Amino acid sequence: MALQEVSWRPSTTPLDAKGAAFLADAQARIDAFFEERWQEPIVGFVPSDFAKVWPALAALMEQDLGPGRRFCEWGCGFAVVAGLAARLGFDAHGIEIERDLIEAARPLLAAHQLEVKLACGSFIPPGGERLAQIKAEMAWLITGGPDGHALLQREPDDWDVVFAYPWPGEEHVVERLFDRYAAAGALLVTYRTEKGTRVQRKR
Ligand SMILES: C[S@@+](CC[C@H](N)C(=O)[O-])C[C@H]1O[C@@H](n2cnc3c(N)ncnc32)[C@H](O)[C@@H]1O
Repeated sequence: MALQEVSWRPSTTPLDAKGAAFLADAQARIDAFFEERWQEPIVGFVPSDFAKVWPALAALMEQDLGPGRRFCEWGCGFAVVAGLAARLGFDAHGIEIERDLIEAARPLLAAHQLEVKLACGSFIPPGGERLAQIKAEMAWLITGGPDGHALLQREPDDWDVVFAYPWPGEEHVVERLFDRYAAAGALLVTYRTEKGTRVQRKR
């Protein structure tokens, strides 16, 4: 694999009041969504700990780690990380296969005047399914569906920074896809429940 660990220092800049209000609202809407859908949950949707992702996102900007500002959250759920990226000045996008999540993300982002372009589709590019096979019985990753990159009128190698929260132990799937499709120099940021946020660069 051509992925290289990037060393970065967590930003010490706290989220401002608008950012904090966005996260509080996002959390409330996600809690309500889980409550409403308890009999029919979207099993693959587990939100990341946004407050823990923030110091990494802010570090990308402050330490100028990425090659550019085009950002995509792969499997974006409520697109909260993409929303934080937009607050930081990234040209933020999100791809999510579950329509109900996209429909929940849109009013949240609009309520906070955050410009994130969303697509209801798959972040697995056509032909990439063989790289996305998971042996686990209950996988979070859904194969099939329209190409989310194309819906955003982008190619998979257009992203300067990709964020994903794969289920623990399945980071390699996202890494394989990123390694195959991202542009040289692009960054992959993954949230890994217990182990914190990781930043890797494609050589
Ligand atoms: C662990 S959740 C993370 C959600 C969000 N990124 C966050 O950090 O809060 C993974 C998300 O990926 C979505 N997903 C699974 N397979 C996908 C695919 N092929 N394309 C787009 N989204 C997918 C799931 O529906 C789920 O919302």
